[in-house]
Parts: sequence; C-alpha cells; structure tokens
Amino acid sequence: MTLTNKVILVTGAASGMGKACVMKLAQMGGKVYACDRNTMGLNDFQVFENVITKQLDVSSSDQCQAVVDQVIRDQGHIDGLVNFAGVIKRTGVLDCTDEEFDYVMKINTYGCFYMLRAAAKVMVKAGKGSIVNVSSIWSDIGASGVIAYCASKGAVSQLTRSAALDLAGTGVRVNEIRPGETNTAMLASERKGRFTQEDIENKLKEIAASIPEKRLASPSEMADAAIFLLSDQSSYMQGSHITVDGGYSAQ
Ligand SMILES: NC(=O)c1ccc[n+]([C@@H]2O[C@H](COP(=O)([O-])OP(=O)(O)OC[C@H]3O[C@@H](n4cnc5c(N)ncnc54)[C@H](O)[C@@H]3O)[C@@H](O)[C@H]2O)c1
Repeated sequence: MTLTNKVILVTGAASGMGKACVMKLAQMGGKVYACDRNTMGLNDFQVFENVITKQLDVSSSDQCQAVVDQVIRDQGHIDGLVNFAGVIKRTGVLDCTDEEFDYVMKINTYGCFYMLRAAAKVMVKAGKGSIVNVSSIWSDIGASGVIAYCASKGAVSQLTRSAALDLAGTGVRVNEIRPGETNTAMLASERKGRFTQEDIENKLKEIAASIPEKRLASPSEMADAAIFLLSDQSSYMQGSHITVDGGYSAQ
C-alpha cells in the first residue's frame, strides 16, 4: 500500500483499533495525527517522529474544526481520516437514561459527523481524500442492552452513505468498516464494577464461542481494513462498507 508521506488523521488513537492503526500507518511512513481525549494513551507514539499527538474531544464541534485547521496550517492538506473514537453504555430501552443516550450519540454519531464535515471541506478543495468511518455489526443488526450504541452506529452508516453521495465525483471517498467483537478495552468496558473479573472473562469466552471463527478479532485486523479503505487500492469504493466479524453476520 502506498501511504508513505500521506497526511492521515486518526481519532480514538489512544487505545484499541485506533492505536493499532496509528502504529501501522507510522511504520508505513505516513504523517499521522493521532488524536484522542485521553492523552496518556498517546504517549506510546513518542518513539515515532512521524506521529503528532493531539488532545481532542470529538463531541466538541469546535475542537474537531480546530484540529483540522491545525493540520492544514502544518501540512497544507489532509489525505485521510479514520473516525475510531467511540464509547458504549450497556443499557437497554427500559434503563437507558437521557444522559447516557446523549453521551453515546454525542461521541459516536456527532463526533463522526463533526470530523467528517471538517475534513471533507478541505479534501474537496484539494480534489482528493479518503474518509473511513467506524460503525459496528450493531449498525445493521439489533442487539439488546445497548440501545444508544446501536442507534449511534446505525446513524454512522447513514452518515457514510449520505456523505459519499454528496462527495461522489469530487475525488473524496467516504467508506466504513463494520467491526465485529474485537479484543479491546471496549469489550470489557461498562462491565467492570458490575461483574467480577472472572465473570467478564467468562462473558468474553462466551462471545468468542458465538462467532463462527471461534475467536475475537484483534485490533490489528480492524486497522488493516481501515488502511485498505484509506489507500488507492480501494479507489472504486464509495459509500460502502467492509464487515470484519469472523462470519458473525453471515449466520
Ligand atoms: N471492540 C469492539 O468489539 C467493537 C466492535 C464494533 C465497533 N467498535 C468500534 O470501534 C471503534 C474503536 O473501538 P475500540 O474497540 O478500539 O475501543 P477502545 O475503547 O479501545 O478505544 C476507543 C478510543 O476512543 C477514545 N474516545 C472516546 N471518546 C472520545 C472522545 N469524545 N473524543 C476523542 N476520543 C474519544 C477513547 O479514549 C479510546 O482511546 C469504536 O468506534 C467502537 O464503537 C468496537
């Protein structure tokens, strides 16, 4: 893949899939802006001269615009954006509070929109760019006990399609990866405190057993799919998605 010297912005870069993606892009010679609200998790990138870390809360439209403006001031253009930043709340229709619903939507959906819009404007001017949104298998299939998360990711899929149609013919592409169950902090998050460590480990084994491939995905496998969508190898993909779920949604 030819991503050497490409300027790529990655959100949610401090953990899981985002971190794996930044590591790979850095090793491929990209100029990577690794953004996250959690700056501690960005320290691991200090070893890379070609990774610039930025504190960013994607639920703030102003901060999203500011980070894109900064990259333009520094580099003159942006070749790629991957929207990995995301959160989950494990509550269903009967117990999800207004605050929980707003919190998840604000980060997963609004955050994706703010970054997508800001990056698309500068990419359209340059006549090139690739934007990769990160939804979930739950953007298409319902799941119980995670109502805000499912709604937020369904909206990300529609953001992808709509933006792709708005931008088709401009040189800017918008696509999406739909990860299945992936071994990151998110899988255990919101279970801690409510369940014992042993219960959580048993739950993760149960999840792995429910997948045709009989294992969780690694964050690196999601990074590979995102990198393919960033690259020119996916040049005819527009408004589309790649499901990476070990066969789960094929059942
Ligand atoms: N892990 C899974 O099984 C799974 C499955 C499907 C989809 N996803 C999606 O993949 C993406 C990456 O998740 P992950 O599994 O790597 O989770 P993760 O928890 O390891 O990483 C998520 C990152 O997003 C950051 N983040 C959260 N809120 C933010 C905000 N407001 N501004 C900036 N950064 C913020 C966190 O600090 C964290 O570094 C998410 O969008 C998630 O919804 C995950």
